[in-house]
Amino acid sequence: MTSLGQRLMDRLAALARHSDEQGKLTRLFLSPSHRTAADELTLWMREAGLSVSMDALGTVSGRYEGQSPGAPALLIGSHIDTVRDAGRYDGALGVLAGLVAVEDLARNSERLPFAIEVVAFGDEEGVRFPVALSSSRALAGSFDTAALDVQDADGITMRQALKEFGCDPSHVGGIARTRDSVVAYIEAHIEQGPVLEAENLPVGIVTAINAVKRFTLKVTGEAGHAGTVPMSMRRDALAATADMLLAIERNAANTANVVATVGRIHPVPGAVNVIPGSVTFTLDLRAPSNATRDAALAAMTNAMRAIAQQRGVSLDIALNHEGSATACSPAIIDGLSEAIARQGIKVRSLPSGAGHDAMAMAALCPVGMVFVRCERGISHNPAEAITVEDADVCMRVLLDYLRHFDAAALRAA
Ligand code: GLV
Ligand code: MN
Ligand code: MN
Repeated sequence: MTSLGQRLMDRLAALARHSDEQGKLTRLFLSPSHRTAADELTLWMREAGLSVSMDALGTVSGRYEGQSPGAPALLIGSHIDTVRDAGRYDGALGVLAGLVAVEDLARNSERLPFAIEVVAFGDEEGVRFPVALSSSRALAGSFDTAALDVQDADGITMRQALKEFGCDPSHVGGIARTRDSVVAYIEAHIEQGPVLEAENLPVGIVTAINAVKRFTLKVTGEAGHAGTVPMSMRRDALAATADMLLAIERNAANTANVVATVGRIHPVPGAVNVIPGSVTFTLDLRAPSNATRDAALAAMTNAMRAIAQQRGVSLDIALNHEGSATACSPAIIDGLSEAIARQGIKVRSLPSGAGHDAMAMAALCPVGMVFVRCERGISHNPAEAITVEDADVCMRVLLDYLRHFDAAALRAA
């Protein structure tokens, strides 16, 4: 019989075929490939005997009833959107690990004292629209409906995209779950960092997730003729931006545990013989605590404003996304530690530098995460890789955790 790890790898390979771009994996929120991936996942869930629904933000949920129908559910999941030119494991692993676990329970006609819902969120990465975690925030009851009016790079609003996807945005208010219907949220995810590999461990337990803020910044100077305006008389928005990017990098490099990334930059008009008149760029800033993140932000902002003044350009900063530092539930950490120890594996806990749907779900219920070792810690890159053996350990830990899960004890904790 195929191992559960192999089954997980096969599902991951199959889901990776749904892409917006030929020859690479790009599956943005509410894109055609998000729709086909959601449809195939729905099919797999139905084959496993789950009752499947899609909410008004495109989240697919498959419910496996417990010993008594209608019991509160343990949610297991992650996201099925990806970055551009992504690997196949970020997000999909957590959704498909949940599915493979439930398939195994169903095959053995094993019902637990609680229901399980496998959830596949659609907007974790925040690549298409200037917001992130929309799907999990909606489920957790903290979605800001103003996000329905944000636009992607083509001027399509999230509201329009939802309609094209087949969802009714007027029903978004009904997505939120009640606290008493959800016991906990568990997310398996590739580590996206090098720690487990360095320590020769297949899995680890997440203690907490870094705080994040994301911005769109606009630098405005003055466009002009590349051949006629003397260097001393220019207000070159791109040269000013370059100065600002280096200030951001310097600041983050000199502040412990802070990371800052400028991942997108758009000079206008973008012609070989025109001095750039304006530049829009993104900033993603993270740190283990909100206070550290915000102190770094203040220092970066001061440095950028000084550069703007010195170069005669203006600077506008708009906050798009904010996620607070999030602690995982100590009771879930203990339960996962016991499940890992029962497999004869050393228990290693570690913080997450990457963001996850668990950050949003923590507003609704206790959350916990299992990390799976990934090759060279590489992620957000098509070179993302895990082994079938580690996938199998992930499955064994998850199933063992489910079989020992004590919903009442967690509620009392
Ligand atoms: C999600 O991958 C993130 O940006 O942390
Ligand atoms: Mn992810
Ligand atoms: Mn990601």
